[in-house]
Amino acid sequence: MLKPDTVRRKLIGRIIQRFEDKRLEIVEMKMLKIPKELAEKLYEEHKNKDFFKSLVDFITSGRVVVMVIEGENAISVVRKMIGKTNPLEAEMGTIRGDFGYSTPDNLVHASDSQESAKREMQLFFGK
Ligand code: PPS
Repeated sequence: MLKPDTVRRKLIGRIIQRFEDKRLEIVEMKMLKIPKELAEKLYEEHKNKDFFKSLVDFITSGRVVVMVIEGENAISVVRKMIGKTNPLEAEMGTIRGDFGYSTPDNLVHASDSQESAKREMQLFFGK
């Protein structure tokens, strides 16, 4: 998911380009403004964290782009390309390392396992 900061900063094209340059395949894509209830479901594993409210407020603050990206080991490849959660700790050359400066506006969200990928595809694409 390209988060609201990516959309606001007009970085959609540059970030998608990186996935395509890596030869990953985008097989589903849409833009939407996430309703609060859906955001709370997406991040339910973090509901007891002190940053939960700011995370939900942020992800619902503007339009996002959700995608299904396919490729061999796509989950680990995409997460490597994104970099560490905190952009100040993310390596240069990663998306967060190159474009980010803080959380929660760290540009991109990516599923961290096959289970979460399935769950998140169901939430956003209904399949
Ligand atoms: S944890 O505690 O290790 O499970 O958390 P982490 O995986 O690092 O982060 C979970 C999601 O919360 C976002 N995050 C934050 N949001 C707001 N404020 C703060 N301080 C903060 N720290 C982490 C982080 O970006 C993760 O969201 P996604 O969408 O997966 O990037």
